[in-house]
Amino acid sequence: MTRIEVVPGDITGVRVDAIVTAANESLMGGGGVDGAIHRAAGPRLAEAGALIGPCAPGGALATPAFDLNPPVRHVIHTVGPVWEGGDRDEVAVLASCYRRCLEVADGLGARTIAFPAIGTGVYGFPGDEAARVAVATLRGATTSVERILLVAFDEETAGHLARATAENDG
Ligand code: APR
Repeated sequence: MTRIEVVPGDITGVRVDAIVTAANESLMGGGGVDGAIHRAAGPRLAEAGALIGPCAPGGALATPAFDLNPPVRHVIHTVGPVWEGGDRDEVAVLASCYRRCLEVADGLGARTIAFPAIGTGVYGFPGDEAARVAVATLRGATTSVERILLVAFDEETAGHLARATAENDG
C-alpha cells in the first residue's frame, strides 16, 4: 500500500529517492520550483535536460540529481498543462503528469518520491482542483513506490492537498 503524505516546505530539502520538477518543455530550467531545483542540482541538470528534451505536456523524463544531496538520486521532469479555463484537456494532462512520473519512478526502482503542486504556479491551474487530480491519480495508480510526499510550498497549497486527501479517503 503506497503512503501519500502532505508535507510543508521546499522540495529541494526533502529526503527521497526522486524529486519531481514542474518543468517547461525544454527541460532546461525556468522559475518557480523548477528554478529552485536547478539551482540546487547545479548547471549539469540543465545540460542533462537539454539532451533528453523536449518533453510534451503530460510527459515525464528522468535525469540524475547531480548536486542535490543524497538520498535524492533522480530528478523527474514533468510538464504540466497551461490552464486555459478547463476545456483544453488540462485535467487529463495534469493526471498524466502524475501517472507518468510514477511509471518513470518505477522504472528507476525509486521507492520514495516527492511532488510539487504541478501546474498551480505560473501555469495557473486552480490549486483545489489540481490537488484533487493529484490525489485521485496517485491513489488510483499501480506502483512499487512506497511513499509519496506532496510538498506544499505555501499554506494555501497545504490546505488544498489536505482537503483532497481527506475527501479521497471517502
Ligand atoms: N518547493 C516546492 N514547491 C515549490 C517551490 C519549492 N522550492 N517553489 C515553488 N513551488 C510551488 C509553487 O508554489 C506552486 O505551488 O510549485 C508549484 C508549481 O509552480 P511553478 O513552479 O510555477 O510550476 P508550474 O505552475 O507548473 O509552471 C511551470 O514555470 O518556472 C516555470 O520553467 C517552468 O515554464 C515552467 C512553468
